Amino acid sequence: MSAVLKVRVSAAKMLTPVVREFTLQSCAGPLPGFSPGSHVQVHLALADGKVRNAYSLTSDPTDNHHYRIAVRLQDSSRGGSRYLHQHVQIGDTLEISPPANLFALHATASLHILLAGGIGITPFMAYIAALEQQQAHVELHYLCRPGLSDAYLDTLRQRLGSRFHTYHSRPDLCRILRDRPLGSHLYTCGPQPMLDAVRQQAKALGWPDSRVHWEAFSAAQPGQPFDLELVRSGRRLRVGAEQSVLEALESAGLEVPNLCRGGVCGQCRTRHVRGEIEHRDSFLSPAEQADFLMPCVSRGCGLSVSLDL
Ligand code: FES
Repeated sequence: MSAVLKVRVSAAKMLTPVVREFTLQSCAGPLPGFSPGSHVQVHLALADGKVRNAYSLTSDPTDNHHYRIAVRLQDSSRGGSRYLHQHVQIGDTLEISPPANLFALHATASLHILLAGGIGITPFMAYIAALEQQQAHVELHYLCRPGLSDAYLDTLRQRLGSRFHTYHSRPDLCRILRDRPLGSHLYTCGPQPMLDAVRQQAKALGWPDSRVHWEAFSAAQPGQPFDLELVRSGRRLRVGAEQSVLEALESAGLEVPNLCRGGVCGQCRTRHVRGEIEHRDSFLSPAEQADFLMPCVSRGCGLSVSLDL
């Protein structure tokens, strides 16, 4: 069983009509420290079963008195973000996983160029706190919809001044990325099409992969229900329409290593034996997909899938 922290919601407020911010305080002892770019998984018991959603920590990493997360209400949500928006109140207790970091800052960068799309601003809030303390060179480019997905706009304007640039439509990426100082690192977080465009532009301009860092916001999406056969243990489980394979396994008491729950980190890789798979991850190569699936996002597309568990 992986570690779980109990936290109390000490503050909650709407930052925009679709983004709600929560401040979380420990119910027992200090919270574990975290590094900029870390996320936590929030464990939620919904009517259809348990889900765990990953949210970046937006608070100052040097302050372990509280954590802060910002949650965008997702239209296609299986209910996790809706539950956090509509049902969680100040004083409620939540269960979260300890922080993990898949999107770390690179201390040696001569310039940190941050490119956020919408709720992709969240990991950069912790970045900016850390970079300000280090007096590092940073610039932030923020693509957002005014009055809808523009969380933290005033704060960022105040903190970064002329190093902060906002856009209401796709910015000229070539202009942002060309002729940058040697040793610059680029970080981008937001919807997949934006990440693809940023990475393609960086490649076209000759940025080495080692200096381009990205974090996608992807989560399990609903699909058709199907059966799961676990060939080693001989167990059979049902994966509901609103459940991921990983969640079905966890509900049955099986722990599979996982970090991102969005098909990008590779932790939950599991061998499949029979049944057709709809691969929805961005981790496995086409050759690997013949033998493995990422149960946090991928699903069976027939009646049944057999796993080597
Ligand atoms: S938990 Fe990261 S790919 Fe599944």
